[in-house]
Amino acid sequence: MDSQESLYQQLGNDKIKQISTRFYLEVEKTPTLRALYPEELEPAQTRLYWFLLHVFGGPSPYLEQRGHPMLRRRHFQWPIDGDMRTKWLNCMLTAIDSVPMQPETKESLLAYFVKAANHMVNC
Ligand code: HEM
Repeated sequence: MDSQESLYQQLGNDKIKQISTRFYLEVEKTPTLRALYPEELEPAQTRLYWFLLHVFGGPSPYLEQRGHPMLRRRHFQWPIDGDMRTKWLNCMLTAIDSVPMQPETKESLLAYFVKAANHMVNC
């Protein structure tokens, strides 16, 4: 694998979509986390998928549809403490584990999500 490849090049659309889908299946099984999300999870799943395409270096339907991510600001409306962060991360770790990928790719994904989730803690 060329270490200069973006995460988008390493994973491709399908695997990024699989991660987003599996993530929300895990959210469904985590009541305190699930309670923060809207009744309809499918639009939320699409927003996560579009966002990940964008941050991993792929196409940017996210920017066209949602504008600048400003993720931390968008998350201020939910109280996110360390426990909620860990629940979110556990869902994401399970999602990542469900998709076959190179160990180096997985390491980069984990590093990205741990950092991003810590950044979202707001109480
Ligand atoms: C740390 C714990 C986190 C919690 C509890 C949390 C919770 C939520 C909730 C309840 C929503 C609303 C769902 C929707 O309608 O789209 C949301 C949206 C979103 N979250 Fe998180 N989130 C967390 C961390 C993260 C992280 C680390 C990322 C990305 C790396 C992320 C990416 C997004 C995106 C892209 C949206 C849609 C924003 C939009 O365009 O409106 N979240 N999050």
